[in-house]
Amino acid sequence: MDQASGLRMRMEKGKEGMFRKGPSPAVPEKRRGHGDVRVIAVTSGKGGVGKTNLVANLACLLSRMKKKVLLLDGDTGLANIDVVLGLSPRYNLSHVLREECTLSETLIEGPGGFLILPSSSGIQEMSDLTREQKLVILEELNHLEMDVDYLLIDTAAGIAGNVMYFNLAAREIIVVASPEPTSLTDAYALIKVLHQRQGKKRFRLVVNMVQNAAEGAEVFGRLSHATEHFLHLSIEYLGHIVRDDCLPKAVKQQKAAAELYPQAPAVKCMERIAYKINKERPDCSLNGSISFFWKQDIVQSGR
Ligand SMILES: Nc1ncnc2c1ncn2[C@@H]1O[C@H](COP(=O)(O)OP(=O)(O)OP(=O)(O)O)[C@@H](O)[C@H]1O
Ligand SMILES: [Mg+2]
Repeated sequence: MDQASGLRMRMEKGKEGMFRKGPSPAVPEKRRGHGDVRVIAVTSGKGGVGKTNLVANLACLLSRMKKKVLLLDGDTGLANIDVVLGLSPRYNLSHVLREECTLSETLIEGPGGFLILPSSSGIQEMSDLTREQKLVILEELNHLEMDVDYLLIDTAAGIAGNVMYFNLAAREIIVVASPEPTSLTDAYALIKVLHQRQGKKRFRLVVNMVQNAAEGAEVFGRLSHATEHFLHLSIEYLGHIVRDDCLPKAVKQQKAAAELYPQAPAVKCMERIAYKINKERPDCSLNGSISFFWKQDIVQSGR
């Protein structure tokens, strides 16, 4: 059987749940209902603005707050969550799509006990997943017998297919930008595409690599002015992260900065962001199984 027909068979198996108006029966009872899984994509228009560092540390900080976190490396072409955290996964998403293992067999533990679903690096097909592959990933996620509070997704940068897919799949989107004008124009472009073409309405901004809180607020002001003026869309400010050597230093040591330098200024900023996220009540209308609502969106959008 070739890969495409294998994927189709697996999709057929899950199809019934995909279109049912209610939580999929594959989802364990404890994961159903209000306030269950918060699916948050961390994304950016421009690359290198600090998404992977933010998401790895958020996962670590939220686990410290006794939350059950699953971190999905959605940078499927150039995955590096495992490298940043010094882990060596045996399997990753590409093995799942080749049917060499199940999704749960790919999971590895990160600092503080959160789980990571690693992806591959340097496999060209993985940088542009087919629609079938995307649906299989969702189907496999839906069958994970796990109790999860947060599913965090580290996306690639830009507005290409996979980035759109993971942002469309997530119910909450955190856009990361730096004060550089190119990062802001790219963040604006990403928000514009997600809003106008995919109907996304809620965006929260983290401004990374700033000198201080005032610079973060000023950068947020510029972007929110543009989205309000041109898109008639209000975005929310989640906070700033100061430029701090502790982050590249932690990457070099392949550990989370939150673990190595808990008192560092950038870690304190990320701690405030984690508290803010965790304090919010998730939008109850958006809950259900990990993936049920995503699928509806993705099936409807034809992506
Ligand atoms: N607040 C900060 N202060 C100093 N350096 C930072 C900060 N945030 C991130 N960095 C550094 O910037 C670089 C890029 O970070 P990271 O890999 O997290 O970005 P990214 O947005 O995930 O990139 P990509 O788009 O390539 O996936 C890394 O070397 C990281 O250590
Ligand atoms: Mg990254």
